[in-house]
Amino acid sequence: MRLDKLLAECGYGSRGQVKKLIRSKQVSIDGNIVLADNHNVDPQLQTVAVSGKVLERETNVYYMLHKPAGVVTAVSDEGNRTVIDLIQPADRRPGLYPVGRLDKDTEGLLLITDNGQLGYQLLLPHKKVTKRYEVVVNERVTAADQEAFAEGIVFHGGTTCKPARLTILSEADEESRVLLDISEGKFHQVKKMFLSVGKKVTYLKRLSMGPIELDESIPPGSYRPLNGAELAQLKPYFR
Ligand code: URA
Repeated sequence: MRLDKLLAECGYGSRGQVKKLIRSKQVSIDGNIVLADNHNVDPQLQTVAVSGKVLERETNVYYMLHKPAGVVTAVSDEGNRTVIDLIQPADRRPGLYPVGRLDKDTEGLLLITDNGQLGYQLLLPHKKVTKRYEVVVNERVTAADQEAFAEGIVFHGGTTCKPARLTILSEADEESRVLLDISEGKFHQVKKMFLSVGKKVTYLKRLSMGPIELDESIPPGSYRPLNGAELAQLKPYFR
């Protein structure tokens, strides 16, 4: 939200009065005086103060959802339950959306927010936000696969992926369980990476996105607001 709008909504006068307040160097963000009234700001992620008095207003919501299989990552859908349908009506806000996309059969961490800037920043390719997945595949995963992932998998169509780290948790001819860390978000990326080495993903769960880790105490289908420590870790992604 713009700084002048926030201050006006917090009772610091009209937009004009608020502009004067800002220009008189009485407003700070994280301890630094700001002079631009159109500065984007979120008092949940940043400390906004007027003449040293900190604003305590909640503007945006940030939820950690444990996505179950069977719901689609969309705001609305004709025939399917969506991740937004899992949010209680009292917790919904206009503009609530999922940050990034998980396939219908994928489980795990999904951030849901009404802060458009945050999702945009987390998904920018050059930010290289790491996503960790737990993956089960239908064959033995080998050291050769680990090398191929580390070098950069090339999809059958020719698209090259960035280097990814594959950690083998268990391996057998009929099934292997691995952790995969990737720093990009191509469509069906994990499934296509394994198909490129001739293996099929049979189970997929996202465990983390950037600094945020799935809280396994949240049952699939449920969610909770991000706590203060988690919000603080997201701060670098809020511009
Ligand atoms: N990669 C996939 O293939 N599917 C997902 O849901 C997420 C990453």
